Amino acid sequence: MRLLDEASDLVFEVGPFAIARMGPDFRVERASKRFCELLGYTEEELRGKTFPELTHPDDVQGNVELAEQALRGDLTHYTVEKRYLKKSGEAVWTQLTATYVRDGTDGSVHGLAMIEDISERKASEERFVALHEELKGRITELEASNVALAKANKELGTFSSNVSHDLKGPLISIAQFSQILLGRETGPINDAQDEMLRRIRNAGLQAKNIIDDLRDLADVTRREIFAEEVDMSAMCWTIIEDLRGLAPERDVTFDIRPDLRVYADPALLRLLMVNLIQNAWKYSAPKAHVTIQVGVERGSLGTIFFVKDDGIGFDNEHRERIFQAFERLHTHEFAGTGLGLATAQRIVQRHGGDIWAEGVPGEGATFWFSM
Ligand SMILES: Nc1ncnc2c1ncn2[C@@H]1O[C@H](COP(=O)(O)OP(=O)(O)OP(=O)(O)O)[C@@H](O)[C@H]1O
Ligand SMILES: [Mg+2]
Repeated sequence: MRLLDEASDLVFEVGPFAIARMGPDFRVERASKRFCELLGYTEEELRGKTFPELTHPDDVQGNVELAEQALRGDLTHYTVEKRYLKKSGEAVWTQLTATYVRDGTDGSVHGLAMIEDISERKASEERFVALHEELKGRITELEASNVALAKANKELGTFSSNVSHDLKGPLISIAQFSQILLGRETGPINDAQDEMLRRIRNAGLQAKNIIDDLRDLADVTRREIFAEEVDMSAMCWTIIEDLRGLAPERDVTFDIRPDLRVYADPALLRLLMVNLIQNAWKYSAPKAHVTIQVGVERGSLGTIFFVKDDGIGFDNEHRERIFQAFERLHTHEFAGTGLGLATAQRIVQRHGGDIWAEGVPGEGATFWFSM
């Protein structure tokens, strides 16, 4: 027995293992040199401390439960991963193997804990988990951008086929009417031929307008934005002057809220307002007296500007479709390329805002936008 005691002294004093022996009340009775080094205490300081005191608060309960099972004799030993608390307060991850032995003389039960420092393994596990989380995040981002890309590709496909469809119409007119005119008998041009020339000219103009508007649209998407404070009210009046010049006979009242100030790229803001005011002007032409309003509302959605007319309006069912390129509701009665609102939407979006529309057939339309 003496020989065994001496051997166990040796294990505690010079052995390379972190070992602690505990009494029935969980108090430390002995601690090996390595265990003292691991926690930064002297053996003197450790003696009398209980092991829950030396354990990270989150790990105490699980540990105590296992120890109680062992004390009852339900377990001969167990191995767990747990955090000890160093004297400095810092936690250290360990793997603990504990076994309980009954003292032959007084029958008291003592625990023997063998502790391995696994902080490096834990740190690399944590790095691995963090890396895994980051990778998962990247994959989600990639999947989202794939979906966005597929959507953009599909839109581009629709867009290109609409461009060719809309350009083809005027070009076919030009080709067909000029073919007929080329085959005509010499002599003065009759009324029917005159009409054909007029149609050729209109078709040429329509093709030119489409190309100009496509250029605007591409420009809006690509160009850099230089925002500054713009007096939108003054800007609207210059646009209105140009419109009045084109049809001075029309009875249109403009109600422009004074001093509307917007922080935006002036050239793009102008293009936006030209599109909205021109639409209000164009789609109210059949009415005898018209009022067009430009104003602002401040509410729960923030500052929202609007352009409102009491023209022919539209069915709200189409309120989203009209922002798509080449989507036109009133194709026969009014000239246009169907690119105005697509351009307007892109301008607003590039300023971080949103645009939407509301219409009532026969009563008018309102276009709202934030910037
Ligand atoms: N103020 C409005 N009132 C009624 N309908 C409108 C109004 N503004 C737009 N719309 C409808 O939305 C469609 C799309 O408008 P958008 O400005 O994009 O094209 P457009 O006016 O036909 O041609 P353009 O490219 O020359 O502006 C119009 O064709 C019209 O049917
Ligand atoms: Mg338009």
